[in-house]
Amino acid sequence: MNPSPPSPQATALRWTVCPRSQLNSSAWLSQAQAGRFQVILTHWRDWRSDPRPLGEWASRVRQHRLVAGILIPFSTIAVLPLTELDAIGPLLLVLAPESPEDPEHWHDFLATLARTRLAKLRWSMLGVPVCHLASWLPDVVLAQPPARPHAPACATCGARMQCAGPLAAQPVMPLPEPISNQFDLLDGPQATALLCLDGPSPRFFVSEQPPSATIVEALARGQVYLDRSEKPRLDDFAADLTLLEQVDGRVWRVADQQPFAAEEALLLAQLRELSGVVVDIGAGPIRYVQELARAQASNVLRYVAVEPDLSALERAAAALPEALCLQGTGEHLPLRDGCADAVMMLRSFNHLRDVPQALREVARVLKPGGVFLACDNVAFGLCRTPEQLARAHAIPVSETPFEHYRNADAPDAARALCAAVPDGFHVDTVQAVGPGTSNQWFLRATRR
Ligand SMILES: C[S@@+](CC[C@H](N)C(=O)[O-])C[C@H]1O[C@@H](n2cnc3c(N)ncnc32)[C@H](O)[C@@H]1O
Repeated sequence: MNPSPPSPQATALRWTVCPRSQLNSSAWLSQAQAGRFQVILTHWRDWRSDPRPLGEWASRVRQHRLVAGILIPFSTIAVLPLTELDAIGPLLLVLAPESPEDPEHWHDFLATLARTRLAKLRWSMLGVPVCHLASWLPDVVLAQPPARPHAPACATCGARMQCAGPLAAQPVMPLPEPISNQFDLLDGPQATALLCLDGPSPRFFVSEQPPSATIVEALARGQVYLDRSEKPRLDDFAADLTLLEQVDGRVWRVADQQPFAAEEALLLAQLRELSGVVVDIGAGPIRYVQELARAQASNVLRYVAVEPDLSALERAAAALPEALCLQGTGEHLPLRDGCADAVMMLRSFNHLRDVPQALREVARVLKPGGVFLACDNVAFGLCRTPEQLARAHAIPVSETPFEHYRNADAPDAARALCAAVPDGFHVDTVQAVGPGTSNQWFLRATRR
């Protein structure tokens, strides 16, 4: 195993620690205003007896257009009042070791934090060797440390991986908030934005006021759907959605052709061509179980699922017991160099936090001549009844831990691939989304 350390970010944020009493001191205020740092951290020890005033402190930090965070020693993380801090948020929890640390100490805590996903808390780490960070993906990615000698702690570290040394006093980079790819076109008596000739009783829907750029783009691409499901969260677009097509101006009707089948057929045809070791990044609970089981049983391929979400991974292992199921992320594949004949990223591309890093990982694990298949969905407008809306909006944030970070289309993905690994791939197929297609794009490339 040889995972690369987290990649440096384009605009890394610098941080400083400010004692509780000095938030309004002119010395650091002028430095902050001069853009010397963008994140202000405070020590947990100054607040632990009564964290309530933290809210006021954090809001004063935010008034200066800075990110507020708390520096927390590993020894105290187990007793943090997470729910109380979440109520105070938004806050960045920065975990810091006091002495040579043992990953076992913080492993359980991070697992809890990742599972709980409190809405207003984000986390990062300081002072943790990159080799240990590789299996975690902090909300705030620590940038690469400058070259410097490794700390004594590294001498005893058992991880025989490339390591850039402990991260200390490093700039941090927050990630964007997760976004959705589904946008509601709301029902309402005053609504005249869209008229849907759906069956015997036409319905009116109104889009966001004013329509966001995303909605305008979705309309231009003809990506407007009726929600046919009774699910709070759509998980099978082909079954759950009915494509609408524009008749005239604001008048839409159910399209004659429902396109998901064509896109799915293309994907399945490509999948049936694969052989050897096939790595599925963001496998989820595994969608094409029958095809994969058949190919695995006849020794055509060996399927490897990589998935960060443990509950999805458990479902994957149950669905396809012959598969090798590994917990991991696209950004840090738990696989050795050149081990794969094919890599798939099916509907997980837009969930990646660091696309260039993940694409470099694809290049690292693929053999020359190996195939890369990717597909995902772009933003789309949904016509939903008030009942469907209420169901969808009732899902707690904690139940959607791995959301989208972008709504890239196939050409965006192809550009990202060529930029991340110059001359590393031959792009074979780029099928973009447009009027007449579903909102699922497809990309195929071959490793040079
Ligand atoms: C929409 S689901 C797609 C699942 C499956 N591939 C499919 O086509 O049905 C997206 C999956 O990507 C996973 N995911 C989220 N962030 C990821 C990351 N950084 N690296 C790899 N997978 C990720 C999610 O846990 C989720 O299982």
